[in-house]
Amino acid sequence: MKNILFITGAGSGIGKQASVEMSSLFGQLILVGRDISKLKNTKESILQKDKSHADDSIIVYSCDLGNKDNIIKMIKDLDKTLSQALSISLVNNAAIFNGHQNFIDSSTDDWNNYFNINLMGSVNLTQAILPYMKAKSFKDNAVIGDFHCIINIASTAGTRVVSGLSAYGSLKAALIYWSAALALELGDKNICVNVVAPGLIDTPIHDFYSKDNKNSEHYKQACNAQVLKKMGQPKDVVSAIKFLCKSSWVTGTTLTVDGGISV
Ligand SMILES: NC(=O)c1ccc[n+]([C@@H]2O[C@H](COP(=O)([O-])OP(=O)(O)OC[C@H]3O[C@@H](n4cnc5c(N)ncnc54)[C@H](OP(=O)(O)O)[C@@H]3O)[C@@H](O)[C@H]2O)c1
Repeated sequence: MKNILFITGAGSGIGKQASVEMSSLFGQLILVGRDISKLKNTKESILQKDKSHADDSIIVYSCDLGNKDNIIKMIKDLDKTLSQALSISLVNNAAIFNGHQNFIDSSTDDWNNYFNINLMGSVNLTQAILPYMKAKSFKDNAVIGDFHCIINIASTAGTRVVSGLSAYGSLKAALIYWSAALALELGDKNICVNVVAPGLIDTPIHDFYSKDNKNSEHYKQACNAQVLKKMGQPKDVVSAIKFLCKSSWVTGTTLTVDGGISV
């Protein structure tokens, strides 16, 4: 019986950092994304750093979370591992971001993609994993291993209105509402459900801030717009994820990690 970290979008950015930094807290990791080579790279980083893990204690699984059938197949394939879980920490982190776009220019496809991946990917995956959490409930809880938790990665775009983010922000707002509603439903099962809402974080999701171009005006302006005058780093978000994985008396909340931009 192992404590499982089930994390999506584990091949890059916040998901990769969380997987590597938190690996020692869990006996079994399940790393999900679409690009298997990126996931294998994350696994390799963990194996190099964390000698407590063997090859079979880190599963990498390629799944397009925008497709419910794929999610159902993945969970079927992982049934044995999930059935043997002592506890499950599910981090719904995978999402797409296609840059700023005026509403008038957004297409039905743009909205559908955000809906299917950024909202329904988390909804469908959670629904598929919940039976495994409910099968092993805890009366009292204190640390990882003594309770199940679900952490949904939203965005400050879901809590404060930003020009050009009507589609992305609307679905992140829906993710936050759904998370709180789920927290209410799962309280009597001792399953904690929380949200981390990052602000601007330096990850590959911002293709327009090219890594080679940190001296660009665009990048400088983005940094200067932050109260702390810099972009956040993935590790800043991981601190919040780690806190919630360990906090059995916190549920239904949104933890904002945004360098103060929401002030
Ligand atoms: N960086 C920021 O400024 C920022 C701000 C607010 C919120 N966030 C949120 O933070 C989370 C992590 O983003 P990030 O910044 O770390 O960006 P990232 O490096 O681009 O990570 C996003 C991950 O999601 C995965 N993904 C995308 N579509 C998928 C799909 N259909 N099925 C499975 N996996 C999929 C990608 O994996 P593949 O490439 O393998 O598909 C990728 O690893 C997201 O929820 C994002 O909305 C980020």
